Amino acid sequence: MSFPVTRLRRLRKNENLRRMVRETRLSVDSLIYPLFVTFGKGIKDEIGAMPGNYRFSIDMLPHEIKEIKNLGIPAVIVFGIPEEKDEVGSEAYNPDGIVQRAIKEIKSVAHDLIVITDVCIDEYTSHGHCGIVRGEEILNDPTLNLLSKMAVTHAAAGADMIAPSDMMDGRVGAIRGALDEKGFTDIPIMAYSAKYSSAFYGPFREACDSAPKFGDRKSYQMDYGNSDEAIREVALDIEEGADIILVKPAMAYLDIIRRVKDEFNIPIAAYNVSGEYSMVKAAAEKGWIDGEKIMMEILLNMKRAGADLILTYFAKEAAKILTM
Ligand code: PBG
Repeated sequence: MSFPVTRLRRLRKNENLRRMVRETRLSVDSLIYPLFVTFGKGIKDEIGAMPGNYRFSIDMLPHEIKEIKNLGIPAVIVFGIPEEKDEVGSEAYNPDGIVQRAIKEIKSVAHDLIVITDVCIDEYTSHGHCGIVRGEEILNDPTLNLLSKMAVTHAAAGADMIAPSDMMDGRVGAIRGALDEKGFTDIPIMAYSAKYSSAFYGPFREACDSAPKFGDRKSYQMDYGNSDEAIREVALDIEEGADIILVKPAMAYLDIIRRVKDEFNIPIAAYNVSGEYSMVKAAAEKGWIDGEKIMMEILLNMKRAGADLILTYFAKEAAKILTM
């Protein structure tokens, strides 16, 4: 039936009608808040390009955690900034390292808040790469053991979920095997399966001082011209035991989220990354856009594209609106 019998505008007439037929909703249940934890004491240091986001020393975490919990946000993902970096990222798998200690602190304040940890050594290596380096080469297989060790120390400290973001081949299987061997059979893995080599990570690297000191990450992170390859990455990670699949970045990659959603039957997380956040904040600060409206539009669109979960620096702001 077409016009004039069909008039799609009929159901757009007012907000009550619109909300009755809205297909997608954003809920605080979907939000995961990234937390940056640094060495030192008494530190709550705002990240330059990410206004409203901070690096916290462990003693400053309790207040922040209570706020996150009170907003109804179900989960955080923790990133560590260690005091010492070296060639092999030793602090990443130090049982008493920055993230391992942060997990214990968070759990002591809010035992039911889901603590996810990013597993990747780039924040811990002096060269800033996500793997062991030989010459200009980033070695795959020798890195797997370090990632596995890192994941096990996180689980031992009380982490609820492990999120490998390194993009080494075979890491999900290696980590799954190591976790199982140590008895952590019930700890899920959220795999950054389709993680692209992207300039959108700029502000995050500034926050963690983790930009590679030579070259780039193109030999391990995906080429953004590719979408079929994302499907292969996801298929492999599911085979290796991933429980949740993550696509990153999100805003310019909604087609990838949709393809993964259509081709697989598994929860999907979208990472609304640092550069996406900074762009909105900068334009809003200039008065060029309505930052709050754009935030809600972006987040809902990620859900519509197929994301079940969204990792976002907007989590607290969005939660305030959603739970108001
Ligand atoms: C790697 C990691 C990165 C991000 C999350 N995990 C940086 C990178 O790959 O260089 C980026 C997140 C963001 O930009 O918000 N440990």
